[in-house]
Amino acid sequence: MRKRRAFGSRAGRIALIHALAHIELNAIDLGWDLVARFASKGLPRAFFDDWVEVAAEEACHFELLAGRLADFDAGYGDLPAHDGLWEAAVATANDLLARLAVVPLVLEARGLDVTPEMMAQLERVGDTESAQILRRISRRDRSRRNGGALVRSPLPGMRVGPGGGVSGARSAVLQG
Ligand SMILES: [Fe+2]
Repeated sequence: MRKRRAFGSRAGRIALIHALAHIELNAIDLGWDLVARFASKGLPRAFFDDWVEVAAEEACHFELLAGRLADFDAGYGDLPAHDGLWEAAVATANDLLARLAVVPLVLEARGLDVTPEMMAQLERVGDTESAQILRRISRRDRSRRNGGALVRSPLPGMRVGPGGGVSGARSAVLQG
């Protein structure tokens, strides 16, 4: 069952925004890790260009959230954060297809699932500014997921479904 956050309190909102900033920061790191780790695989230049673009977009998301934390006299690093996203990166360090399947599609999609509810809760407690930031982030992530780097630069032999899913290694990784 999903944990309920107390968005009515300043501490609750800081916790939420901090958690989202942590996801964005991991996404920045993962984008650059993809570029650096798989640079020697002979992939098309456009593939790397797309992931550089992804990392830049995630940096914009992080900036928006860090700015909102500053409005609350808080900052990224004030609270502890889970390491699950980075653990997934480590687990798929030697398998490009598995990395592509797990990181951008599954973990970030999980974040997208909860965002509409978060926005509604923030608006209910009168924090429209935070809600607007979440809406901007959600819109950009959604458009990227539906037509992003994988669709523009599929790898040889890779099949990308209409929702952005990668066929092949995905199901095996998720079951592991
Ligand atoms: Fe993002």
